[in-house]
Amino acid sequence: MTVDDSKIDRYAVVGHPVKHSRSPMIQQFFAQETGENMSYGLLDASPDDFEVVVRGFGASGGKGLNITVPHKQAAFGLATELGQAAVCSGAVNTLTFRTDGTIRGDNTDGIGFMKDLTVNQAQKIAGKRILILGAGGATRGILAPLLDAEPAEVLLANRTLERALTLVKEFETTIDFSACSFEDLAEREPFEIVINATSAGVRGENPPFPPSCVSSISFCYDLTYGLEGTPFNAWARKHGSERTVQGWGMLVEQAAASFEIWRGTRPDTADILSKISV
Ligand code: ATR
Repeated sequence: MTVDDSKIDRYAVVGHPVKHSRSPMIQQFFAQETGENMSYGLLDASPDDFEVVVRGFGASGGKGLNITVPHKQAAFGLATELGQAAVCSGAVNTLTFRTDGTIRGDNTDGIGFMKDLTVNQAQKIAGKRILILGAGGATRGILAPLLDAEPAEVLLANRTLERALTLVKEFETTIDFSACSFEDLAEREPFEIVINATSAGVRGENPPFPPSCVSSISFCYDLTYGLEGTPFNAWARKHGSERTVQGWGMLVEQAAASFEIWRGTRPDTADILSKISV
């Protein structure tokens, strides 16, 4: 029996580089689990080629794209209609090509993060003191749902203070929400939840945060991930944190939320999480 490829709904992830992306493995797992007839591939596109690649995929009948580094802001610019989380974060990680030619842009990073943090990791946010390290795109993606969960305090610490101050000004909230430099952080008590949203440490250098911001009370979450844990996970453990996790769960949960937008059915994440987590 031959399979008629033209009947299969096509999806892909676009990034640069993209060959190490886990998204095809995760989305194909969901498709099998839910019995959805779809394919999911990888598209490498440089920033110069991004628009042509995206529009070409849609014009050839492709149904949807996940967008990863460095294209999330460019995808925001290409969407003709935006979901609320995309508007709040100024970035899009999920594009849907509709039959009427419109392109819907959503951002599932924030809900994926919150699902992993509050359900899979069973962390209560309300009333907690939270430190976010970093003030780039990754921070922007998680801020709105985190502030909505009513923590007692959110402090943004960044190497470039100005960038953190700008982000704080952008978000209207009644939560105690402020910014500081890594040096100022040394004056503060350890935080209950510490989130690494920087790319510091990925090239093997020591994470540049004052150790006093973590202790045995700190749950430490790294938005990035690696096969054997991340430099931030090792740093947090070394400085007293008894629970530190990496971002596999967020990756799986944001993928599940994209899948639901496209297919209208929510895949179960427990099975794949037990296989993928380190
Ligand atoms: P992303 O989309 O992954 O958030 P980004 O917008 O470039 O990428 O942001 C990267 C974040 O990591 C920023 O907060 C950056 O700090 P600056 O704003 O000062 O650039 C932080 N970062 C990257 N390398 C770092 C390093 N070696 N030390 C400390 N912070 C670092």
